[in-house]
Amino acid sequence: MKPLTDLPQMRTIQPKILYYGTPVILLNTLNEDGSTNISPISSSWALGDNIIIGIGTNSKAYENLQRHFECVINIPNPELWKNVEALASFTGKNQVPLEKLAQGFTFKKEKYQVSKFTSIHSISFKPSRIAECPIQIEAEVKHIRIPDYSPFFAIVETKSMHVHAHENILIENSEHINPAKWSPLIYNFRHYYSLGEKKGKTFRSET
Ligand SMILES: Cc1cc2nc3c(=O)[nH]c(=O)nc-3n(C[C@H](O)[C@H](O)[C@H](O)COP(=O)(O)O)c2cc1C
Repeated sequence: MKPLTDLPQMRTIQPKILYYGTPVILLNTLNEDGSTNISPISSSWALGDNIIIGIGTNSKAYENLQRHFECVINIPNPELWKNVEALASFTGKNQVPLEKLAQGFTFKKEKYQVSKFTSIHSISFKPSRIAECPIQIEAEVKHIRIPDYSPFFAIVETKSMHVHAHENILIENSEHINPAKWSPLIYNFRHYYSLGEKKGKTFRSET
């Protein structure tokens, strides 16, 4: 253990955001007319084959998920950051909520067109997949909860049903994703990053 004097000085702060560096996902949900909406999201994590997502209740994604319990979680790599950012100022809600208007959002239904991504059919689910994203997960919505301490965000619990991966990020003849070939796009305090160099691995790694 280091003596406290050897550690960096500390300060208690009040940051506006707590986006401390999580992968970006592109959440595909089904619009009323059968088309697919794409929403960039950084609040997600996996618990076994469940993926938990945090989404704003003023988003089109939330509206769509309440009506249709299917989604595709597309995971872009760092090279796709400009396509992701091309979506950032748009909402699929044609009545743009006031707080989103104030933040500079405008309505855009054609999310594939604006991001220049390619749509491909899903195996079982209605929302399409994004072909350029190296990992695409078809998932079923199991539960949506709005916490009683905040009406602004919903916690969406999903279960992964089909995982699709680009062949070039896989370990040959295996079901494993090769961490040396795969890197997520990281959202780090509103800046886009890729992963740095490898530091090591955990005792449970099978690769
Ligand atoms: C990189 C990135 C990460 C984001 N992460 C989240 C998030 O975790 N949760 C969320 O509700 N909104 C997040 N947003 C904002 C949504 O993308 C925004 O609310 C947008 O309106 C969603 O699109 P929709 O209204 O068509 O669903 C993020 C935006 C960007 C660009």
